[in-house]
Amino acid sequence: MSDSNLTEAARRCLEQLGPEGLPRHVAIIMDGNGRWAQRQHKPRVAGHRAGVEVVRQLVQTCGELGIEVLTLFAFSSENWRRPAREVGFLMELFLLALEREVRKLHRHNVQLRIIGERSAFPEKIQQRIEDAENLTRDNTGLVLNIAANYGGRWDITQAARTLAEQVAAGDITPEDITPERLAENLCLADLPEPDLFIRTGGEQRISNFLIWQLAYTELYFTPVLWPDFNRDEFEKAVISFSHRQRRFGQTGEQVEQQRNA
Ligand code: IPE
Ligand code: IPE
Ligand code: MG
Repeated sequence: MSDSNLTEAARRCLEQLGPEGLPRHVAIIMDGNGRWAQRQHKPRVAGHRAGVEVVRQLVQTCGELGIEVLTLFAFSSENWRRPAREVGFLMELFLLALEREVRKLHRHNVQLRIIGERSAFPEKIQQRIEDAENLTRDNTGLVLNIAANYGGRWDITQAARTLAEQVAAGDITPEDITPERLAENLCLADLPEPDLFIRTGGEQRISNFLIWQLAYTELYFTPVLWPDFNRDEFEKAVISFSHRQRRFGQTGEQVEQQRNA
């Protein structure tokens, strides 16, 4: 986006950025929907519904700021353990969102991808996912990844299985298996790794999200419940990120020198 196209709000945020600048890829655990609803004496599902609106706003904010990739944890491989009614409602909401939002995302040049084990979803949802991905495949704006029936351990396991099959077929040897080659077979392999991880809702854990990909990601936890997570709160996280020094094992002095070179 050229400078003259920046909204006032985006310009204000970008002006506050520190040396690290904008994250290219932000990954978020959208947590706290249930507690938000319960505090208002509403059923938990009201929180999930309110959460969808927050996603809509966030996609717009990311587009305005010029963030390249946004990955959202919508349903974990462990969330099947919830009461059947809640799981059913979440499936309905997912289907509805796919029906209602995809065309709008397409108009905004967003490339939508769904990561996770999709064979567990009802046939109708699987078909919608495929249609949505095909429709938005060539879009060049924000890449929006929705993690649905995703688990980090599943991701690593499916990559390991792919490599094992290649060894069994004689295409590679066990010695060919390196961290780089394993990473190539994970979800999101073609995208930059997450720079910033945000978890709302106050818990400080990863809950089997992108466990491999988050190895060097900056972590940000906020007590704000997901339905209350607005533009200001997101910008706070981005600005906090921009003032951190990422060392990747080096010393602070080395990083400073490279930055000044
Ligand atoms: C996150 O909110 C949404 C999903 C896991 C689908 P929760 O439903 O986990 O909300 P809390 O943590 O119970 O408040
Ligand atoms: C993580 O939230 C998964 C999603 C937000 C989709 P949970 O609420 O399921 O995580 P735990 O169970 O509290 O760790
Ligand atoms: Mg939760």
